[in-house]
Amino acid sequence: MLVGGSTPRAPRRPRSVGGRCDHAGMSERPHLTIYNEISLDGKITGFDGDGVRYYARGFRWHSDAILMGSTTATAFGPNESDDEQRRELPARELVGLPPGFEDLVYEPRPVLVVPDSGGRLRNWTHARSQPWYGRIVVLVSERTPTEYLDHLDRRGIEHLTAGEERVDLRRALPDLGRRYAVRSIRTDAGGALNGACSPPVWWTGSR
Ligand SMILES: NC(=O)c1ccc[n+]([C@@H]2O[C@H](COP(=O)([O-])OP(=O)(O)OC[C@H]3O[C@@H](n4cnc5c(N)ncnc54)[C@H](OP(=O)(O)O)[C@@H]3O)[C@@H](O)[C@H]2O)c1
Repeated sequence: MLVGGSTPRAPRRPRSVGGRCDHAGMSERPHLTIYNEISLDGKITGFDGDGVRYYARGFRWHSDAILMGSTTATAFGPNESDDEQRRELPARELVGLPPGFEDLVYEPRPVLVVPDSGGRLRNWTHARSQPWYGRIVVLVSERTPTEYLDHLDRRGIEHLTAGEERVDLRRALPDLGRRYAVRSIRTDAGGALNGACSPPVWWTGSR
């Protein structure tokens, strides 16, 4: 995701990016921050963004988890070949930090959380090689093929089931809180996932 570019400044909390929303009716719900780079005319896709700046600022939030959409996660790299996918990987270890980016990584590193009920992401070796994240957890549903769960097991990627068809985020987010001590989540996602996370919300403005 974040590669190359200029050396970021020391981490600090941004003064006025993102919006805060709190979910009604969810026990042990983590605090969710929707974080996006937007164009002047309000778009979050279809324009030339500044990925280095987006991620450099995003990692200053020090959230416990990052909720990434499955389309966004395709940017980690191409799908592995069938042969690669069959190989069982050892448990993932934390990845060393690239020179110049040390300030962006905080400990414990945030959990990378990706909903993928359809089981389409087959590029987990690339995600595993990212230094920014600690554990990697895929959110799946009852309809997710068992074959994909086996695939995740071979890649050393944890999965959490919530929901019958799509992932039930109202269940999954509190489950993340309980299982992984996630108290705060920042999104790295497009409008569909942001919207699916949101209702019902109380907008409390930017900070
Ligand atoms: N401007 C920015 O700041 C910014 C930041 C990040 C990404 N983006 C862009 O946004 C575009 C799409 O992003 P995206 O894949 O991150 O997310 P998305 O298109 O908003 O949503 C797709 C993801 O959200 C899940 N999802 C969507 N609706 C759901 C629902 N009702 N219930 C449960 N899960 C739901 C999907 O899970 P399933 O796979 O299980 O269906 C999938 O993981 C990309 O082009 C990306 O580049 C822009």
